[in-house]
Amino acid sequence: MMKDYPKTIVAKDGTLVRLRPVVKADEDALRKFFAQIPEEEQWFLRENMTDQEFLRKWLNKMDYDQVFPIVAVKEDDGAILASITLYRSASPAIRHVVHLRIMVHPEYRSLRLGSWLILDSVKLSMDLGVEKVIAEFVAGVEDAAGAAAAKLDFQQEGVLREYVKDRQGKYRDLIIMVRNLHKDWSDF
Ligand SMILES: CC(C)(COP(=O)(O)OP(=O)(O)OC[C@H]1O[C@@H](n2cnc3c(N)ncnc32)[C@H](O)[C@@H]1OP(=O)(O)O)[C@@H](O)C(=O)NCCC(=O)NCCS
Repeated sequence: MMKDYPKTIVAKDGTLVRLRPVVKADEDALRKFFAQIPEEEQWFLRENMTDQEFLRKWLNKMDYDQVFPIVAVKEDDGAILASITLYRSASPAIRHVVHLRIMVHPEYRSLRLGSWLILDSVKLSMDLGVEKVIAEFVAGVEDAAGAAAAKLDFQQEGVLREYVKDRQGKYRDLIIMVRNLHKDWSDF
């Protein structure tokens, strides 16, 4: 669980990267990180992570029983390179499910950070006793994320047709991908 952090991983280019839970003191680093994400990608985020007020409230009201935010930071200077958050409902009807959202800094993509974070979140979900991890991808925009998830055994279980509008007002499908977890089984 969260006590298993920090963990150190090595990116494909040899950069040492630390995975750890988000803390309140990350406010500025998180805002800086999300400010460097291209606007076309920011558009599809559920929250405006570059809004100082929003970010402060999000961090101050964080309920670590329902939200599990992990960042990947550079070991040498602490800069945030990637972020992944698991969202879990308090409702017993869907408490066995988590929703995953991931973002990797554009300059640090294709270095396996996304794969490491998704794998790590699968492990965290198993430790939490979760049975399903759900990820949603905007077709034609977040296909790289869908491909990464597919390589890590997520399977497409549904499509919400024309569910999302892009910045130009064009409708896009939302692809729902699911990874089912088994209690006695691990990737590690
Ligand atoms: C999708 C994302 C998380 C991948 O992170 P990453 O660290 O670059 O990915 P990895 O280096 O671990 O690559 C894993 C796999 O992803 C796929 N992938 C990564 N970048 C890709 C690209 N530009 N085009 C197509 N596939 C890509 C490949 O299948 C790759 O496997 P391979 O290297 O064996 O070919 C990252 O590109 C990102 O943050 N995208 C924007 C945010 C987003 O789409 N979020 C999804 C909504 S939850």
